Amino acid sequence: MAVLPSWVHILVGCFSASLAWASNLSALEPPLWKESPGQFSDYRVENGVYIVDPWVFPERMGLYKILLNQTARYFEKFAPENEQNILWGLPLQHGWQYSSGRLADPTRTTSCGYASGDKLCISVDSWWGDLNYFLSSLPFLAAVDSGIMGISSGQVRLLPPPKDEKKFCYDVSSCHSSYPETMNKWNAFYQYMQSPSSKFNDLLKYLWDAHTSTLDHTAARASTKSWGHFFLLFCNLICLMIAFCHQTVC
Ligand SMILES: *[C@@H]1O[C@H](CO)[C@@H](O)[C@H](O)[C@H]1NC(C)=O
Ligand SMILES: *[C@@H]1O[C@H](CO)[C@@H](O)[C@H](O)[C@H]1NC(C)=O
Repeated sequence: MAVLPSWVHILVGCFSASLAWASNLSALEPPLWKESPGQFSDYRVENGVYIVDPWVFPERMGLYKILLNQTARYFEKFAPENEQNILWGLPLQHGWQYSSGRLADPTRTTSCGYASGDKLCISVDSWWGDLNYFLSSLPFLAAVDSGIMGISSGQVRLLPPPKDEKKFCYDVSSCHSSYPETMNKWNAFYQYMQSPSSKFNDLLKYLWDAHTSTLDHTAARASTKSWGHFFLLFCNLICLMIAFCHQTVC
């Protein structure tokens, strides 16, 4: 991603913003968190395969909720109550996209994502919705693939959007063939996470690698893009990471 003007400027801006945020991060919970599926059995099952519709906000959020739940045990040694699970950044960012209306249909040709229409709908025409698709499906499916989710690789499938089906991948094997490098980076993160001697700072590095690989390899697939969007996305990610970092050792 050679598009960024200056990391220094971004970092400085983000750092001050995140300090305020970090101090009350633990009070935050993503919107509709309680209503979102928290275990596989909350989803529909077809022939032994869990079916997730990631174009509906709580169902996509549920992927994060299960991921946070299943990874909690690896973060216990850093803090109680899953507070230091660095994956919190993902659902928090997604929640912010939802609350700020970024997941709605920007063309306004449908009521997808609007309070007056289908509020919970995530539009495939939303740049944020598309990028977040990869930032939710790939980490989730890689976790399934790493064997930490308690189900086998073929046991979960995501549903395609109403159009542009070819832009995305929907299960462990197809995401592996489309994004081998990114899936391997996420796998590396989960592998390291399972190591009893894992260090918080190194976990952040693995996570950062997986994050940036996801954006590098998928950003071209998302609908319309602009500088401002990338800037905001990166700033947001950096903020989240600094926020966690700030809470602990840095
Ligand atoms: C948390 O931060 C938000 C936004 O800066 C602020 O409005 C809110 O009052 C803070 N909450 C607490 C408990 O400090
Ligand atoms: C994980 O989910 C189960 C079942 O919903 C729940 O009982 C448990 O408290 C959750 N664990 C964490 C750490 O959130």
